[in-house]
Amino acid sequence: MAIKAVPDETVRHFLTLNDLSASEFRAIIHRAIELKAMQHRGEIYEPLKNKVLAMIFEKSSTRTRVSFETGMAQFGGHAIFLSPRDTQLGRGEPIEDSARVLSSMADCLMVRTFEHEKAELLAQYSSVPVINGLTDDVHPCQLLADMQTYFEQRGDIKGKTVTWVGDGNNMCHSYMRAAKLLEFKLNIACPEGFEPQQKFIDECRNNIEITTDVSAACTNSDLIVTDVWASMGQEEEQNTRELAFNDFQVTTELMDLAKNNALFMHCLPAHRGEEVSADVIDGSQSVVWDEAENRLHAQKALLEFLLLD
Ligand code: CP
Ligand code: NVA
Repeated sequence: MAIKAVPDETVRHFLTLNDLSASEFRAIIHRAIELKAMQHRGEIYEPLKNKVLAMIFEKSSTRTRVSFETGMAQFGGHAIFLSPRDTQLGRGEPIEDSARVLSSMADCLMVRTFEHEKAELLAQYSSVPVINGLTDDVHPCQLLADMQTYFEQRGDIKGKTVTWVGDGNNMCHSYMRAAKLLEFKLNIACPEGFEPQQKFIDECRNNIEITTDVSAACTNSDLIVTDVWASMGQEEEQNTRELAFNDFQVTTELMDLAKNNALFMHCLPAHRGEEVSADVIDGSQSVVWDEAENRLHAQKALLEFLLLD
């Protein structure tokens, strides 16, 4: 009998934040907050019993892997970790064939990879929802958790000012799209030559301002966010990037320019003494541990949204 998987335009994927409307984004955030409370009360809730999530990781991960695996287990389902090292993906089996086969068995796929187009190709040939667990271009799952964290701490982010300090990378691009969807202002302070990609600038230009003046960008901000100077895949650029980003460390001096109740976020893993000083990330304005925990709750809300709605 033929395998059931065929390209299906009706399947809902989560490859970027643009796959959500603003109201869906907010609904997922609010549901994540509810699921977190249920989890903390010890309530058993297993809406995905017998469902399987197949996870392809072509880059390293701690949070993304553990949050999806734990979330599926808590939901009564199961997650499978697939690495190119020990699957046929690493030996050149086409992504289209892998998509057809995996989606004929699993109920949802997750992929962390380099080229964003690879995640798109997987989705194109998958008969089940595909979740982007990070590509070179975007990291939408992290934004679900970051926005949940902001809403929990301070309420809706609409009309607030957020400052991105550092590389115009995948995290920055996802912040840009979140700014457009949730209607906040995003200041982006980055060194010359490390700006976000032009297509993201064009798409989000009404909500962003790009500058090299990191102090001006942080002044009166409600939330300061940063990320590593060299992302996965850029390891050999570490030394040149350390020089270029030297003035782009989030310090207490920068935090002091922001609003008194400003928060600090970082998707982690962090490098203390590079993109952030130890006293900021370990200080009272930092919410990085809530942010990391919320990966679990936000992605459970996402799985419910994609698999039950
Ligand atoms: N923030 C994040 O995605 O962490 P991992 O790389 O550990 O998954
Ligand atoms: N920008 C970082 C995020 C890690 C979660 C990277 O892509 O490596």
